[in-house]
Amino acid sequence: MSEKLKVGILGATGMVGQRFISLLENHPWFEVVTVAASARSAGKTYEEAVGSRWKMDTPMPEAVKKLVVMNVNEVEKVAGTVDFLFSAVDMSKDEIRAIEEAYAKTETPVVSNNSAHRWTPDVPMVIPEINPEHFEVIESQKKRLGTTRGFIAVKPNCSIQSYAPALSAWKEFEPKEVVVTTYQAISGAGKTFRDWPEMEHNVIPFISGEEEKSEKEPLRIWGKVENGQIIPATSPKITCQCVRVSVLNGHTAAVFVNFGKKPTKEQLIEALVSYRGLPQELELPSAPKQFIQYLEEDNRPQVTMDVDFEKGMGVSIGRLREDTLYDYKFIGLSHNTVRGAAGGAVLCAETLKAKGYITPKH
Ligand SMILES: NC(=O)c1ccc[n+]([C@@H]2O[C@H](COP(=O)([O-])OP(=O)(O)OC[C@H]3O[C@@H](n4cnc5c(N)ncnc54)[C@H](OP(=O)(O)O)[C@@H]3O)[C@@H](O)[C@H]2O)c1
Repeated sequence: MSEKLKVGILGATGMVGQRFISLLENHPWFEVVTVAASARSAGKTYEEAVGSRWKMDTPMPEAVKKLVVMNVNEVEKVAGTVDFLFSAVDMSKDEIRAIEEAYAKTETPVVSNNSAHRWTPDVPMVIPEINPEHFEVIESQKKRLGTTRGFIAVKPNCSIQSYAPALSAWKEFEPKEVVVTTYQAISGAGKTFRDWPEMEHNVIPFISGEEEKSEKEPLRIWGKVENGQIIPATSPKITCQCVRVSVLNGHTAAVFVNFGKKPTKEQLIEALVSYRGLPQELELPSAPKQFIQYLEEDNRPQVTMDVDFEKGMGVSIGRLREDTLYDYKFIGLSHNTVRGAAGGAVLCAETLKAKGYITPKH
């Protein structure tokens, strides 16, 4: 008998779902026993349901090929097969809020990639290196839901992972004003060039809802726990433009920043490369050894060379220099479907297991 925690994936046939499947192959703590998707896929084997939609570089793991896809809406049935769930379904926000809560109420923890619950005051939104203490609010969420072990935890939007970690590393220098432009990969929209040929050689200056998320979500990450809720920070002020570019994987950010206490460039680089968090301390299975790397070359970070740093779980920063209008400017890069989506959620689940929030049901 396997002693691994049994996990299911809601939205397993989609792009983020597939990334979960790939990342969890041979995971030391978690075993994928259930895959669920829409009624269109339910009843088929995972291999049949995904068919030519498999978008990962690595082959579909043998262990999931023959799993029969369940229907996400059959909550009790799906919940009965697992210890906890990852959620990556694409439904309306109201539907996602309702279904994730329904699963939590079956006493099944849900670690979600979706944005629906990111602003629910007692749902923690966590980058485990930065704000693992926010998981504390799970206790008040369980009281609200009337559960003993069921809850929802979420990870933030993919776009912020290319600059929020650097700003977190620089907290002591008090970032005050931040201007960001993101250059975002097409996999962030669940697409490849095959299904979105108009994106070849193209730039589209609009990603629905992304600028608001990029400006506000870092403030919730830097917020504090008060009376069982997360109260967002009020500083720094962030303004952001989000642009879709002709890249498959990897979100780049060009950032300007003013500090309350202006540091030297050397102090900033030292703070980046020495920044460590709970995942590194606990040596969690998906934790990058080096969370943030600093690249000295003028032409780095580059998507093709650096997106897979630390298997896509590390963040690359470069081109840090003084600016004429702001104190400093720099470029950041992170992998949007690994650190920014499924990998970030797996690291949250590992942290939750290590802290005793996710346990076997029986
Ligand atoms: N792609 C990224 O980098 C990224 C990053 C952060 C967050 N997200 C978010 O993650 C979620 C999934 O994104 P994705 O890119 O993986 O989308 P996707 O490729 O379109 O996959 C959507 C998944 O949801 C299922 N689904 C769709 N409608 C459903 C319904 N009515 N009932 C039950 N299941 C349904 C699909 O099942 P079928 O195959 O049966 O249709 C599929 O498994 C979205 O909310 C997205 O905003 C994505």
